[in-house]
Amino acid sequence: MAVGVFDSGLGGLTVLNAVSKRLPDVPFVYLGDNAHAPYGVRDAQDVYDLTTKATERLWEAGCDLVVLACNTASAAALRRMQESWLPPEKRALGVFVPLIEALTERNWGDNSPPKEVGVKRVALFATPSTVSSRAFQRELAFRAIGVDVEAQACGGLVDAIEDGDMILAEALVKSHADALMRKMPKPDAAILGCTHYPLMEREFQTALGEDVKVFSQANLVANSLADYLERHPQMIGEGTESKFLTTGDPEKVSVHATNFLKRKIVFEAA
Ligand code: DGL
Repeated sequence: MAVGVFDSGLGGLTVLNAVSKRLPDVPFVYLGDNAHAPYGVRDAQDVYDLTTKATERLWEAGCDLVVLACNTASAAALRRMQESWLPPEKRALGVFVPLIEALTERNWGDNSPPKEVGVKRVALFATPSTVSSRAFQRELAFRAIGVDVEAQACGGLVDAIEDGDMILAEALVKSHADALMRKMPKPDAAILGCTHYPLMEREFQTALGEDVKVFSQANLVANSLADYLERHPQMIGEGTESKFLTTGDPEKVSVHATNFLKRKIVFEAA
């Protein structure tokens, strides 16, 4: 029995780490589409095509439920997949909604009308493709009123993190946070809307100041997946083995992933 976790590259490993800690008995099959990363600079059709292909690969590995542990895929492809592509016995969940539910103080699946919430000014840091999809603003508008969102497309940050160039990544965090604060000087909250960014959470917090509440996804997604599986235990698919698959070069990806998570990870070819 296995659940699929998909990302364009290594960023989804931050989510994988959290879900496997929260659900130690569930096997997870991780698929990184490293051959086509980064997704954050691709158009919506391209992201949709790559995401559906990767999801089919995870079905082959015995996963009926796939978590799109990638904001770019969740923003550009998830709704369309759910509305017109997924067969009835398969499910896909994204990483956006659990974050927005936490920000808007809602429980999972609470579909009541939008209401006033504690945060008024939200800074969103995400990939260029997620920012231009406006999916975050759309999902937020279903749940909250009177919240200003200022989005900053963090060009270059995913590549720097994938390459392990943390000095460049830190400089980019600082310059993107400064750019955001020129548009919105005092955000109440900041959303790290890309699964790579939790690795730079401390740097975001320092650049934004300690008064800004920084929301990062991994644990929120883990809790919402645990809740989902409790209500839908049949969605744990047929696969029984945890494994890491990549469309890229398994050796290279294993080295990067081991540095990224600071524990040994061995990828196989997808
Ligand atoms: N980590 C992915 C996300 O959450 C995308 C990174 C990329 O491929 O650009 O958006």
